[in-house]
Amino acid sequence: MMPRDIYNREAPGAHPPYAYPEYVSTRKRAPIHAPIRIVQTLSEITGPRFGRELLRKGDDDLTRFNGSEAIGERIIIAGRVLDENARPIPETLVEIWQANAAGRYAHEVDRHPAPLDPHFCGVGRVMTGRDGAYHFTTIKPGAYPYPNHYNAWRPQHIHFSLFGPCFATRLVTQMYFPGDPLLKLDPIFNSVPDSDARDRLISHFDIDLTVPEYALGYRFDLVLRGRSATPMET
Ligand SMILES: [Fe+2]
Repeated sequence: MMPRDIYNREAPGAHPPYAYPEYVSTRKRAPIHAPIRIVQTLSEITGPRFGRELLRKGDDDLTRFNGSEAIGERIIIAGRVLDENARPIPETLVEIWQANAAGRYAHEVDRHPAPLDPHFCGVGRVMTGRDGAYHFTTIKPGAYPYPNHYNAWRPQHIHFSLFGPCFATRLVTQMYFPGDPLLKLDPIFNSVPDSDARDRLISHFDIDLTVPEYALGYRFDLVLRGRSATPMET
């Protein structure tokens, strides 16, 4: 008997291929053998979860570190984490990491000659609420160059990691900003074949989320699996 699909599978082109030659890193890291489909069983949709014991005070606010304020444009990033049937996923871990306002990561391998900010570490984590909502206050990241091709620059972006309720809903992706002129030139963003799926990686400016005289608001919902899934992007 043929195994029956028990979830709403992603549309073709919703995720980038393992090998995308224009994104040079994939030439070496993509598997050379075809993937083997593993029949989904109960263990892929159940399992241990990370809990609130991981959280520390201030993990949702990246604008203060080492006792003072980070440099740059303050922004609010908020949205909901949804399952394949648009139901909110409560109590699930959402982690982000990003470059500072000058486009430099606080990481030893980042050699971009842009200034580090001693008051910006660039990482945050929250748990979603009962309504699947999450909320971060951070600094708008700068674009940065990378050695993919001549004059290659990454659009401004924030990396996201989510586990959802089980292993089968693991998502690592990137959030972009509307109107960024670098998006059309970026092979990582454009490695997602489907244009509707690419659009799901771009946040939306939201005046209602914007805090007067404090920070602009960007809304970014994430969908784990299904026809409207947020693309995987690493
Ligand atoms: Fe990055």
